[in-house]
Amino acid sequence: MNTERKATLNVDGKTVEFPVMTGTHGNDVIDIRTLGGKTGLFTYDSGFLSTASCKSSITFIDGDKGELLYRGYPIEQLAEQCNFLEVAYLLKNGELPNATEKTEFENLIKRHSMLHDQMTKFYSGFRRDAHPMAVMVGVVGALSAFYHDAMDFSDAEHRSISINRLIAKLPTIVAMAYKYNKGEPFMYPRNDLGYTANFMHMMFGTPCESYEPNPVLVRALDVIFTLHADHEQNASTSTVRLAGSSGANPFACISAGIACLWGPAHGGANEACLNMLEEIGDVSRVGEYIKRAKDKDDSFKLMGFGHRVYKNFDPRAKLMAKVCSEVLGELGLENDRLFKLAKELERIALEDEYFVEKKLYPNVDFYSGIVQKALGIPTSMFTCIFALARTVGWITQWEEMITDPEYKIGRPRQLYVGAARRDVPSIDKR
Ligand code: SDX
Repeated sequence: MNTERKATLNVDGKTVEFPVMTGTHGNDVIDIRTLGGKTGLFTYDSGFLSTASCKSSITFIDGDKGELLYRGYPIEQLAEQCNFLEVAYLLKNGELPNATEKTEFENLIKRHSMLHDQMTKFYSGFRRDAHPMAVMVGVVGALSAFYHDAMDFSDAEHRSISINRLIAKLPTIVAMAYKYNKGEPFMYPRNDLGYTANFMHMMFGTPCESYEPNPVLVRALDVIFTLHADHEQNASTSTVRLAGSSGANPFACISAGIACLWGPAHGGANEACLNMLEEIGDVSRVGEYIKRAKDKDDSFKLMGFGHRVYKNFDPRAKLMAKVCSEVLGELGLENDRLFKLAKELERIALEDEYFVEKKLYPNVDFYSGIVQKALGIPTSMFTCIFALARTVGWITQWEEMITDPEYKIGRPRQLYVGAARRDVPSIDKR
């Protein structure tokens, strides 16, 4: 890590220097870990707009260039040339698998795809109409009640077993949440199918007839998984890292990540975006909603637009729009009402000075809902699909954090603006 450059702070007549650290790509950072000790001052960065919470080798985003790299490989090439399990292997191990490693990893994941049969009883504790994200928070967290055989996370083998269990079981857990909501029987995994085809089998198959997923649709969903696999230190990944920094087990940490992802400002935006498109209903009403999005007194935001990092375009949105066109074409839905509405909304928004000035472009969630709806996935399941894919990134970031030699429990400070010190008055004086 190159740290010859220094940042100088002059405060209260004192001059203090801090090393400037340079990574492989992206912004350099000022190492301020000694700031409090040297000056008695903290930094204030609500929302972490200018804060690097860690060093990481997993994912790089360039918001101005609209660039997203997983372990150095551009998302466009990975989406085109690899499947999701290859990308999962890459994120976990740092390199793409060769043919032998790929086959071995696929077979390993298949052998962990079933849930302990006792876990199926968790579902019956939920109302049938429970939001599937609530079910996922509960069931994924409960995994830690079943796997005591590999809980020494200082042991690389134990970490690998837990990571593989999560990658393998999330599709089963998500599909079971969908089946439970529908009142249909759970479908067991099929080891003769690939990862994403198996997920579609567990979602849409029934015991009454054989189900062979459409390979075009399988490929589309597999690309959607790849596009959602990881994304640097976003809110849910930071949640997983912070939870893991206390030594909490990975299942509980992933459950915390799922809870954070659920929010409409984050992963819940794809569900919110489709609901918004349904509410707009017709191109003739787009102007009304653009006006509302610009109105400071109106809390309405255009779901699927804007991003903390991407200030040019979200490369995933472009790829998602392409997948969307392919799926709608395969299904003969080229004239899909919502897709046409979304394209028109995107066109109008991108010509509007408010969106141009604030650099608000479609993000990964904008087309995600339309393509998932076309695949037969209900709106309430959209964020579950996001969580299924992002579990690979979350658990990789978790392992990077706990194996970092500089690893400490995350414990931010604050600027206290509450009541000054005072004595408790007797009750007759309150
Ligand atoms: C994801 O971080 C990640 O990497 C997340 C993610 C991942 O893969 O993990 O990429 C996934 O969460 C994508 C984002 C999905 N969320 C949405 O689509 C919800 C709608 N978008 C907004 O809520 C918002 O754009 C955020 C939350 C995504 C980003 O918020 P920021 O960076 O905190 O920016 P901001 O809210 O301060 O907005 C800056 C300005 C504000 O106006 P001013 O106060 O400066 O006048 O832009 C406005 C906002 O009001 N603005 C919008 C808007 N998004 C921002 N105005 C209308 N519609 C919008 N969508």
